[in-house]
Amino acid sequence: MSARRIVLFGPPGAGKGTQAERLVARLGVPQISTGDMLRAAVAAGSELGRRAQAVMDRGELVSDDVVIGVAEERLMQEDARRGFVLDGFPRTLAQAEALDGILDRLATPIEICLVLAIGAEDLVARLLKRAGIEGRSDDNEETIRKRLRVYREQTEPLVAYYRARSLLREVDGAGSMDEVEKRIGEALS
Ligand code: AP5
Repeated sequence: MSARRIVLFGPPGAGKGTQAERLVARLGVPQISTGDMLRAAVAAGSELGRRAQAVMDRGELVSDDVVIGVAEERLMQEDARRGFVLDGFPRTLAQAEALDGILDRLATPIEICLVLAIGAEDLVARLLKRAGIEGRSDDNEETIRKRLRVYREQTEPLVAYYRARSLLREVDGAGSMDEVEKRIGEALS
């Protein structure tokens, strides 16, 4: 039986959101995307949204305490007991350690961590293409490159963190969405 408590991470534009949607449709568990939750807070004009917007527009990370609080509240909901696909969380070592603590308390530990690997120029091209379609405020070339730097500096160390726990599976994120979905299916089987 496939894992149902999954962390999906990778650089901006790697396809986390795209593949998380496909995975949750197959597994019947919720997708938990801190990026989507923060954008919803911005759209709603809430206090959280006001604080997060400028940070997101600069391509930096929203503070650990804020994001951990948002993720914890979501993970405590009943539907997450069946499992979850975490999309874009955790993103720092502090977030990964906090996540382990939350899931220990819930007795629902991570079963597998998938990292989508793909070259920087492909990522920039994907996100500039999306900029022309969706107009996300952090999809301009300067901010995209900043997001990539932030990923390398703050999030990539999680590869070693999850590898040390024997939870890591690297998946080639290049190629079509269907090809990547197939590789993820193989990594989970
Ligand atoms: P977040 O929303 O998580 O954005 P991101 O990591 O920059 O990732 P993207 O959504 O840009 O890309 P993705 O990997 O999901 O790829 P997607 O499937 O969309 O975070 C945004 C911001 O919120 C952060 O910068 C930070 O400020 C804040 N934040 C969020 N979480 C946080 C946390 N935990 N801690 C602190 N701050 C946090 O695909 C991208 C595009 O490519 C799409 O147009 C898609 O259609 C296309 N595409 C996907 N797959 C393929 C394919 N195989 N071939 C061709 N095109 C493809």
